[in-house]
Amino acid sequence: MNIVLGITGGIAAYKAPDLVRRLKERGGDVQIVMTASAAEFVTDTALQAVSGRPVRSNLWDKEAERAMSHIELARWADVILIAPATAEVMARIVSGGAPDLLTTICLATEAPIAVAPAMNHVMWSNPATQANRKVLEERGIHILGPGVGSQACGETGAGRMLEPDTIAAAVFDLGVGKGEGLLTGKKVVITAGPTREPIDPVRYITNRSSGKMGYAMARAAAAQGADVILISGPVSLPEPPGIEVRKVVTAADMFDATHECIGDADIFVAAAAVADYRPADMKKQKIKKNEESMSIDLVRCPDILASVAALDVGPFTVGFAAETEKVDDYARSKLEKKALDMIIANRVGDDCGFDSDDNSVNVLWADGEQRFAEASKTELAHDLIELVARRFYAARGTDTQPRLTVIANTD
Ligand SMILES: Cc1cc2nc3c(=O)[nH]c(=O)nc-3n(C[C@H](O)[C@H](O)[C@H](O)COP(=O)(O)O)c2cc1C
Repeated sequence: MNIVLGITGGIAAYKAPDLVRRLKERGGDVQIVMTASAAEFVTDTALQAVSGRPVRSNLWDKEAERAMSHIELARWADVILIAPATAEVMARIVSGGAPDLLTTICLATEAPIAVAPAMNHVMWSNPATQANRKVLEERGIHILGPGVGSQACGETGAGRMLEPDTIAAAVFDLGVGKGEGLLTGKKVVITAGPTREPIDPVRYITNRSSGKMGYAMARAAAAQGADVILISGPVSLPEPPGIEVRKVVTAADMFDATHECIGDADIFVAAAAVADYRPADMKKQKIKKNEESMSIDLVRCPDILASVAALDVGPFTVGFAAETEKVDDYARSKLEKKALDMIIANRVGDDCGFDSDDNSVNVLWADGEQRFAEASKTELAHDLIELVARRFYAARGTDTQPRLTVIANTD
């Protein structure tokens, strides 16, 4: 993966050489572009030594521009990672300004951009920074962290740059520059998000699913080399790069989209929170507020998961069970009743599960189970996809041994 690593002027820049090493260990080719402020915190000598490439910092460097111009760099990148990202560089990207080499490349690239903010917690919670974060997210820029903890200024709070290894893992999870992995050559279909069941032209029944877990599973499967189709209900998440996304609205749409592409799929992961019931008929006009009370007749929606599990020649099928109580009991009964290969059970409620960035789950299959402690959905998805892949190969026999990606630390 060709990575342009932008380093900006925050204290956490001292971690940049370590980050470069972590990216290279995972197979990244790293070209560093640093701002003038970053040079106050870390030297280009150290960065050139670890990256193995001359560091770029000056937009007006005629010699360097002759070798690889800012436009060539913007094209060369599979991904642009800015770590640490100052409040200032976030604001510059939001404004669309390009006064320096790094922001010029950001403006000129079609590659995905990820930023790892690092700053004092008051700077991070400042409404201006939060508004900038929101705009960046809406534009599909990946925000990695920040973490919470003690800061260089001596205070504690949100604003710490994530650890270099976590950032490196997240960048390779973006699903770009897909390489060899446990699922190379395999087709994985994943559903995510809620569905919306219309009551009338302006109202619908839905649920609190954010789609974050399903999207994280899709990115993790792509990072393991799979060809991924993500069938997504209405969510406000950016489309993961390198993944085919099919947008649907109702449970019936999701059922149709799933069966259109499930024929040659190896693995099906049903992470969507599909409505169990929908209004029996959608009113053509908006329902008026006439009566003191009213009732709506509901009918069952198609059961997508059960229908895939029941296929004569079907994929390895993984369900999710989101329960508020007796999580393992309900999950095991769903596993058996629907004849699934695996089920990922998690507790949901006001305090956990939906729309949260973290999750903890218990994975069950016919003769085993594995518990996963609370972690970010991105990290968890990585571990879950690895387990799914291993159970898939175990279920299909030993003739399709997975090719393992071995990352060697040569130091
Ligand atoms: C000692 C020192 C530490 C700083 N640390 C941070 C930081 O951690 N995060 C941040 O957003 N800005 C920090 N700043 C402010 C930035 O360096 C400043 O906004 C600068 O203009 C950023 O430029 P750049 O984004 O082009 O690198 C720091 C400034 C100083 C003097």
